[in-house]
Amino acid sequence: MRSASSYAIFGALAPYVAAFPAAVMEAAARDPMIQARTEQLTKMLGSRQAGAGVATTINEPVPIFNAKAQLVDVSAGSGHEFVPPSGSDLRGPCPGLNAMANHNFLPHDGWATIAQFIDATNSVVGMGVDLATFLAVFGAVIDGSGTAWSIGGSPTLAEAGTVLGGNGISGSHNKYESDASPTRPDLYEAGNDYLTVPAQFQQLIDASPGSVTMDSLTEFRSQRFDAQIANNPYFFNGPFTGVAVQPAAYTFIYRFMANHSEANPYGLLDYDVIKSWFAISGNSGSYTVQQGWERIPENWYKRAIEYPYSLTYFQQDLVAAALLHPKFLSVGGNTGTTNSFTGVDINNLTGGVYNAQSLTQGDNAACFAFQFAAQAKPDVALPLISTLTSALGSITGQLACPQLRAIDDAQLQQFPGYTKNPAF
Ligand code: HEM
Ligand SMILES: *[C@@H]1O[C@H](CO)[C@@H](O)[C@H](O)[C@H]1NC(C)=O
Ligand SMILES: *[C@@H]1O[C@H](CO)[C@@H](O)[C@H](O)[C@H]1NC(C)=O
Repeated sequence: MRSASSYAIFGALAPYVAAFPAAVMEAAARDPMIQARTEQLTKMLGSRQAGAGVATTINEPVPIFNAKAQLVDVSAGSGHEFVPPSGSDLRGPCPGLNAMANHNFLPHDGWATIAQFIDATNSVVGMGVDLATFLAVFGAVIDGSGTAWSIGGSPTLAEAGTVLGGNGISGSHNKYESDASPTRPDLYEAGNDYLTVPAQFQQLIDASPGSVTMDSLTEFRSQRFDAQIANNPYFFNGPFTGVAVQPAAYTFIYRFMANHSEANPYGLLDYDVIKSWFAISGNSGSYTVQQGWERIPENWYKRAIEYPYSLTYFQQDLVAAALLHPKFLSVGGNTGTTNSFTGVDINNLTGGVYNAQSLTQGDNAACFAFQFAAQAKPDVALPLISTLTSALGSITGQLACPQLRAIDDAQLQQFPGYTKNPAF
């Protein structure tokens, strides 16, 4: 079992895992711009008045708009016109990936390789290659075959070409899929974690007067977090899913779905554009959804290609949100009844390496989340644990991470939302 498949996996990962981290680390160490931005961020975040979008002007210092470079052509005849899913096409909890499959930027059946995910997310919406590599490698290892994965549930044999295709990101609760998502329900609340709930979309719009912004999304996230504590006995805010995936599910909405123009170089996300990306029709008060029909609008302009949404940028958004709402970083959950949220002792969980205060400092929140991600159990028992550890190690290698020697997950056993589906 070991040799053949592990060589194939290492072969496929090698260009990403081996090549980029050293280059990124060196560049970061040498680049005075990056040092200056980090210092600037620390000052601004320290004042706490800057708001959820504070990282925008730090990472996009000079507003740029280039219509030709930023237009994503999905018009008839482009080869990327909208084709809704049918038959065994896989669609799941991620509106961005569903839309990319519907426009054939990803394979239409929803089963794609690591390289296809990196290329599509980078070229269509401007995700940084570092962030895309992490997300795509993690999907393949944790929910897929090691080299490819499904954006919905388990692939058919015809799609995956192997019975070892994994459960996909729809079947990834507590590993990739998190509670308190924007428009998807919690698994133990609704029996699924991927079908869009129009009432949640309505709450997002209600929290976003005029247009959808980083501030409105962060406020909406806070409301969703509180609603889960109040209504879901099994709410669980996990060390990776709660600390890193949940914020991505909110920040990606503005950072990747907003339309860009000369007048709005950082992006304007109006209701029509977000409705298209989320497959919602109708007007406020009577929204309906067509599951899986997420669509990139025509005449839509992505973020400036000079400013990809990188791992560092995301991490700064994550910390900015947590400084406004410190509960976002509290790992823990309800203990089987509503309103019973209990936070774990981070110090104990990490053998003394982190504590609640230090999590908002430096790179710690991202380090903490990614170090837990590296402990997750793959669906498919391939000899992948070392691959996962090295792929994630290459990410944490770019950050200034303290060394985590042991994870003591005894405290997590008190949360039924964790023990029903333990990730580690
Ligand atoms: C390889 C890259 C990506 C991976 C692995 C990924 C994976 C996921 C996963 C596992 C979820 C479920 C999280 C949860 O439970 O809340 C999710 C949700 C989400 N993703 Fe993605 N995603 C990727 C790229 C993108 C892109 C490019 C966009 C935007 C264009 C996007 C937008 C979102 C949004 C908005 C949600 C939250 C959906 C909701 O609950 O309303 N993602 N993604
Ligand atoms: C994006 O913005 C430009 C400039 O305002 C506009 O012409 C275009 O229609 C917008 N696209 C969408 C999908 O709203
Ligand atoms: C965490 O706490 C538990 C019980 O309170 C204890 O048994 C365990 O040794 C602690 N672990 C660490 C690493 O401090």
